[in-house]
Amino acid sequence: MVSAAAQAGVVAACVVLFVPMGLAGWHLSRNKVLFFSGALFVSLAVGVHLSPYLPSLPHLLLAASFHPHPISSSSSSSAASSSCVPLLHRVSWADAGGESGVGRAWAWPPSLASTCGLARLSRDDASLLLNGSWVMVAGDSQARLLVLALLRLLLDPAAAAAAEPELFRRHSDYRATVPARGISVDFVWAPFESNLTRLLHEDLRLAPRTPDVLVLGSGLWHMLHVTDAARYGDALASVVDAAKSLRSPLPVPPPHMFWLGLPLLVNHMLNTDAKKVHMNDTMLQAYDLEVEQRGLLQRDGGPFLLLDVGKLSRGCGQQCTADGMHYDGDVYDAVLHIMLNALVIESQQRI
Ligand SMILES: *[C@@H]1O[C@H](CO)[C@@H](O)[C@H](O)[C@H]1NC(C)=O
Ligand SMILES: *[C@@H]1O[C@H](CO)[C@@H](O)[C@H](O)[C@H]1NC(C)=O
Ligand SMILES: *[C@@H]1O[C@H](CO)[C@@H](O)[C@H](O)[C@H]1NC(C)=O
Repeated sequence: MVSAAAQAGVVAACVVLFVPMGLAGWHLSRNKVLFFSGALFVSLAVGVHLSPYLPSLPHLLLAASFHPHPISSSSSSSAASSSCVPLLHRVSWADAGGESGVGRAWAWPPSLASTCGLARLSRDDASLLLNGSWVMVAGDSQARLLVLALLRLLLDPAAAAAAEPELFRRHSDYRATVPARGISVDFVWAPFESNLTRLLHEDLRLAPRTPDVLVLGSGLWHMLHVTDAARYGDALASVVDAAKSLRSPLPVPPPHMFWLGLPLLVNHMLNTDAKKVHMNDTMLQAYDLEVEQRGLLQRDGGPFLLLDVGKLSRGCGQQCTADGMHYDGDVYDAVLHIMLNALVIESQQRI
């Protein structure tokens, strides 16, 4: 005879497992979803690929108040750090004043850096954060430039320079690894939203493992070749559906998902007539609006945290672009550090 205690145990296990998932699932913020699922999976000893804390970072000031019992500590310290997520893009730009007199430098205002513990990550800290992780970046040339920024951070300068020709091979995928840290970085050439949907729906959903960090972004090709904001929005809605199906059900922690926004387009600098005709301010605004309105972003309950390339490229300014579309490395460096700091905040909420 199965004892009542054993039955109660099974019921309790189910409650412990499924109630937080249900709660976290659709009613709470994305951070809470991460928080709950993270707490569960840490205790189930399933691999968590982002290190829970970074001892050498100023974030430790926040993490120091962390309580070992995750659920009871959710109100204080993690709330403080998740409230910093909307502030991540508040960087200021100044002329770098290098020898050549060119270049722009970005920084978080000191007050924000100290209250939120935001910091540029060193190579060591970044590789510690991403230790054992699989980072996938899929999209168009903006996505490629973000991968370049990541490789420049993770690899030594010579290795990053050596990787560049391969990474920039026209219209192809690229993979780099940091064997010492078990880090894989994939760039997937996916210029159209349908390419992203296919990646999520077919390639990743059937794969034995999903990336730990997934950055997607497209729209420039659609604007140039289709030039129809409403259809872009429909295509984004499909990406959202595919992304949601990837993160549920939850036998493994879902990837941390980011959306790479469209850059500022400087029309008169664009390098073909077709681009000048199709990629004007009106179109850019209409496309940006679709990103806002199609349930893509975490603030609307969607799966993605926006990496606001538009805001950062406007901040850096026209002097940071040669073709009105692709920006200098500083812009993608800022994008990268915003993403890494968001991951630090999320990883603190997992413990
Ligand atoms: C990095 O990850 C590997 C497994 O992927 C693990 O054995 C190692 O302890 C980790 N290193 C640190 C510093 O967390
Ligand atoms: C992306 O999608 C377009 C349009 O559906 C298709 O023609 C193209 O082959 C796809 N590219 C890749 C790399 O999958
Ligand atoms: C912007 O481009 C679209 C698509 O080519 C075109 O229909 C529209 O008239 C243009 N708007 C302006 C203000 O140039």
